[in-house]
Amino acid sequence: MERTTLIVLAHPERRSFCGAWAEASAAAATAQGDHVLWSDLYDMGFHPAEEPGRYAAPPAPFDALKAQEQAAATGTLPPEIAAEVDKIRAADRIIFHFPIWWFAPPAMLKGWCDRALVHGLLHDVDRRFDTGLLRGKRALFCVTTGARDSEAGPDGKEGETRLLLWPLAYTLRYCGMEVAEPLLVHGVHGYHEGARKRALEARLARVLEDQQAVIADLPARALLPFNADADFDGDGRLRPEAPSHWPFIRHEG
Ligand SMILES: Cc1cc2nc3c(=O)[nH]c(=O)nc-3n(C[C@H](O)[C@H](O)[C@H](O)COP(=O)(O)O)c2cc1C
Repeated sequence: MERTTLIVLAHPERRSFCGAWAEASAAAATAQGDHVLWSDLYDMGFHPAEEPGRYAAPPAPFDALKAQEQAAATGTLPPEIAAEVDKIRAADRIIFHFPIWWFAPPAMLKGWCDRALVHGLLHDVDRRFDTGLLRGKRALFCVTTGARDSEAGPDGKEGETRLLLWPLAYTLRYCGMEVAEPLLVHGVHGYHEGARKRALEARLARVLEDQQAVIADLPARALLPFNADADFDGDGRLRPEAPSHWPFIRHEG
C-alpha cells in the first residue's frame, strides 16, 4: 500500500531555509513513492488559538476538551480542523519543519497541536501513550536555531535544543506516535557576512542535499526514548526500577 507523508511547516516565509528544507523532505518522500500531503500552516492562514468562536455550539463556560469532543461527535468540527485530522490519520509519517523561537517551536505549531489533535478523535483518556490512537505513525523534527552549535548542546548557554523539543515530542508520544531523533541545524540567521555567510550557505546546501538520504533512512533512524506505561505506578509515578530517559521524568534525589 502507498505510504503517506505529511509535511508540517511552521515558518512564515516559504523562501526561508526552513521552507526549502521542507520542500527537500517532500521531494525525497515523493522520490520514494510516497503520497505527500502538506500543512504549510502560515500559508493556510491556520488560526492557532483555541477559543469558543471556533465552534458552532461551544460549551459555556468554554471547555476546550469538551468543545472538541462534542464537535467531533456531532460532525461539527471547524472545517480546517477536520481537514488536519484527515491528514494526520492518513499519514504514516509526519515531518515537522520549524525554527526555534524563544526556546520553543513557534506558537503556530503549538496552536496546531492544541486544535488539531482533537480530543475524542485522536486521543482520549483511555487511549493515550502505549494505547494512543496514533500508534504506528512516526514523526521527525527538522529544526533550525540561531544559536551556535556550542551554545545549543548539553552545556550550552542557550539550553540543549534536543531538550527544548521534549514537550512537542511528548505530545506526539501521548497520542501514541514514535518520534525519531531530531535533525538540528544551528547558527541559521541572516546576519552573517562575507566568508561566514558563504560558509553558512554551503552548510545549508549540504543539508538540503542530504535530506534524500535522511528520509530514505527514516525507518531505521533512532527513536527518542520514552517510558512505557508499565514504568509508572498507579499514581502515575515512575517506578524506582524504571529507567529515566529525560530530566522531565526522573527519580528524585
Ligand atoms: C521570535 C524569535 C525568537 C527566536 N528565539 C530563538 C531562540 O530561542 N534560540 C535560538 O537559537 N534562535 C532563536 N531565534 C532565531 C531563529 O531560530 C532563526 O532565525 C531561525 O532558526 C532561522 O531559520 P530560517 O532562516 O529558516 O528562518 C529566534 C528568532 C525569532 C524570530
